[in-house]
Amino acid sequence: MTEMISVLQEERIFKPDPTLSQRAHIPDMAAYKALVVQAETDHEAYWAWEAERLISWEKKWDRVLNDDNPPFYKWFEGGRLNASVNCIDRHLGRRSDSSRSGRKNKAAIIWEGEPGDMRTITYQELANEVNKLGNVLRQMGIKKGDRVVIYMPMIPEAAFAMLACARVGAVHNIVFGGFSAEALADRIDDAKAKLVITADGGWRRGAIVPLKDAVDQALLKCDSVEKVIVVERTKQRIHMHYGRDYWYDDLVAEANIRCEPESMEAEDPLFILYTSGSTGKPKGVLHTTGGYMVNAARTTQYVFDLQEDDTYWCTADIGWITGHTYVIYGPLALGGTSLMYEGVPTAPHAGRLWEIVEKYRVNIFYTAPTAIRALSKLGDQWPQKYNMDSLRILGTVGEPINPEAWMWYYRVIGSERCPIVDTYWQTETGSICISPLPAATPIKPGSCTLPLPGMKYAVVDNDGNPVKEGNGGMLVIQRPWPSMLRTVWGDDDRYVETYFAKFGDKQFYFAGDGARMDAEGYYWVMGRVDDVINVAGHRLGTMEIESALVSHPSVAEAAVVGRPDDVKGENIFAFVVLQDISDDDFHHDALVRELRDHVTKEIGPIAKPDGIKFTDNLPKTRSGKIMRRLLRDIASGRESKGDTSTLEDSTILEQLRGS
Ligand code: WT7
Repeated sequence: MTEMISVLQEERIFKPDPTLSQRAHIPDMAAYKALVVQAETDHEAYWAWEAERLISWEKKWDRVLNDDNPPFYKWFEGGRLNASVNCIDRHLGRRSDSSRSGRKNKAAIIWEGEPGDMRTITYQELANEVNKLGNVLRQMGIKKGDRVVIYMPMIPEAAFAMLACARVGAVHNIVFGGFSAEALADRIDDAKAKLVITADGGWRRGAIVPLKDAVDQALLKCDSVEKVIVVERTKQRIHMHYGRDYWYDDLVAEANIRCEPESMEAEDPLFILYTSGSTGKPKGVLHTTGGYMVNAARTTQYVFDLQEDDTYWCTADIGWITGHTYVIYGPLALGGTSLMYEGVPTAPHAGRLWEIVEKYRVNIFYTAPTAIRALSKLGDQWPQKYNMDSLRILGTVGEPINPEAWMWYYRVIGSERCPIVDTYWQTETGSICISPLPAATPIKPGSCTLPLPGMKYAVVDNDGNPVKEGNGGMLVIQRPWPSMLRTVWGDDDRYVETYFAKFGDKQFYFAGDGARMDAEGYYWVMGRVDDVINVAGHRLGTMEIESALVSHPSVAEAAVVGRPDDVKGENIFAFVVLQDISDDDFHHDALVRELRDHVTKEIGPIAKPDGIKFTDNLPKTRSGKIMRRLLRDIASGRESKGDTSTLEDSTILEQLRGS
């Protein structure tokens, strides 16, 4: 890829509120810069210091970083620990024992079900549940290194299952509950899992997601699985296979509440999580124990400024990496209180999330731009019904957030009081990589701002050389970090080829994002490089055009793709979802003209869409990512050949093709 021209100019800047500094972990820019200098002066010493400070080790490591065989890096080699001990046991001692203690009766998890049922689990209760389930796993023959698939709704038992696996050294492989039986079967099979932990079903928009039925179907094809544990949640009739399937409640009722934690080497696997690429079957991203835990705890502390008395809520499902790191491992390692919610943001009403913020006096709220855009579309009256003055910090993750959505989040949800941490990272990075620090970093809407200390980022051209300031290029990490993926499960070659092969001997990590850096060193992620459009030799990030479209008052959401063009190489085609206006309110042709002019005005004629199609919805994965591949096919009138099984709404393609 040559250089990408960046056309989005965002001038606004928001300075942190000085009252946040008073007890923040990183109180100001000077403190941030001091950490950056510390990390650059002696990278390994920096990470050793963080590892010592944040994690309880049974045995200290012999070597901080082993880089003898790049890109197969090892962190904290020789060190021993257990992730569940770090998330549970060390919080249970009496206050005087250590700074980690005195949390026995503190809420570890506050849970709210979609129907409105609730449960609060203290650290002691969490300990009891995880120990009991750990013993059950061992009785079922699960040993260190065995893979366990977790296919569950967002209920406390999902957290217990993760931590019980960690306790006995089993490698969990969570499959998002919205995936089909087929996707589940592929993942079970690839990981050769011995056990599946599931539920009869989960609640979603008042309907039952029949999880156990999907497991039954998947297991027709997978012969590695010996046993299935089933949590009763939705209580519809399901089929239990005698000798294979067991009720969770029956098993734990009999189990002992003391389960000896497995002593794990820092580089022993903690979990596998599958993620899709632009080609090929999903990749099993492998994370190991020591480095992952260090950076999960570190980033939760720095980025969310988690304090002892906070109610912290990350809305991600545990089926995604965000749910792993920022619902479970990060906040619990710090002894925090993590809120878990089972349902969708808009059921039974459009104020559901804000109602929960009010009810539990949530202080830190972390969600995705797609949710923010969807909720902003429903109107300010919903958030305004609730008192949200407990909020201190807001966060986003998953895709670039367009400045319009950012401003709505800032103004309507945060009442212009709360900093927004736009956190950039990936399944593969394990933890947040680039993000503002809430009390320190001046924020520019749409920018994830500055790399966290220790993260060595650059924007480079095809040869791996830095591009000129302000120009777009490929976003790479130039040095290993503790929570990085260690390989693609069962496929070391694919690990090297996918992430490290592009720049030869330089060993830069590259996972497909384009970005630019501005004069102040702020990063602006321009989207995946495969989302880039080349118009007459000019490369444009689709996100910037989308952002311009969404800044028009009539537009709620937009997706821009390239369409083959005889003259220009590619031309720009936009799918646009309008704000709530009835068809009679406007003339389509007039609005098309107006939007094209608007983009011209915002960015310049180079970015003017050649075609615009209005639609009620966009094809998205269940995690909210727009499936641009499908939109590209539709825009250019091609048949879609690839996989469409991860689509949230399977009827959307017909809708888009018609009319
Ligand atoms: C891709 C990773 C990491 C948890 C959620 C998604 C995009 C993520 C941002 C952000 C711009 C972002 C990137 C990245 N992305 N966060 N703050 N700004 N883009 O995890 O499924 O592994 O996706 O999401 O394109 O590569 P994932």
